[in-house]
Amino acid sequence: MNLIIVGPQASGKGTQAKLLVQKLGLAYFEAGDILREKTKENSLIGKEIDLWMNQKGKLVPDKIMVQVVAEWLDRTDLSKGVIFDGFPRVVDQYLFLRDLLKKKGLRIDRAIYLKISRSICWKRLRARRICPKCDREFNLITRPPKTDELCDDCQVGLVQRQDDTPELIKRRLKTYEEVTKPLVTLVSKEGILVEIDGEKTVEKVQQDILKHLKKI
Ligand code: AP5
Ligand code: MG
Repeated sequence: MNLIIVGPQASGKGTQAKLLVQKLGLAYFEAGDILREKTKENSLIGKEIDLWMNQKGKLVPDKIMVQVVAEWLDRTDLSKGVIFDGFPRVVDQYLFLRDLLKKKGLRIDRAIYLKISRSICWKRLRARRICPKCDREFNLITRPPKTDELCDDCQVGLVQRQDDTPELIKRRLKTYEEVTKPLVTLVSKEGILVEIDGEKTVEKVQQDILKHLKKI
């Protein structure tokens, strides 16, 4: 089964995709994490990605994204299926991915759309914390660390994600409305959209997704 998971910032794409990967054994393309890893490399492409995602809070240009995805697909075992989280995010990226998969004899079976309100996006993003040492994620409201703002594993002080500042959250949400919403409309017309209420608990959202996938 080949899936994409789409939704506004903090709708739970990463949280839900990771659970699906554990349960279904899918290969996992996590656009944001793959890009963040690249910013740690001392390369030209890494510096360009850092500029777009962490300083401007804008989408990384398509020419970089398609290269990153094509390389990843070439080195990944897709035999058990795959879930794309954070990619595609615009109509052109979707058309590119659809063509690339078609060449491999594959297709996107479903697009899971996690629907949440703007106010919940803000609340969740402002409460997200990351361990700078091991990258483990916490949320001060829903998944708090055992000790005040320290990583449970490393005991290192937690930090916010670089793009979780009010200014960049505002910009990311605006981009979502402008360029990702049209993608949701397109996949809906194509009949592959599964709309899920992303405001329920993590466990309930996961159950709702699995219920839909069983019907495939
Ligand atoms: P990316 O890392 O994908 O960030 P995003 O889209 O802003 O989404 P998030 O990762 O913030 O949210 P999420 O939906 O994964 O939610 P999560 O599970 O973490 O992309 C970052 C940047 O990279 C982009 O801005 C862009 O610059 C670049 N980029 C990425 N893809 C690109 C592309 N295709 N093209 C161009 N550029 C691209 O959950 C969020 C929080 O909420 C967590 O704290 C979690 O614990 C909590 N939470 C989750 N579910 C629930 C729940 N049900 N109830 C309560 N809390 C919950
Ligand atoms: Mg994510």
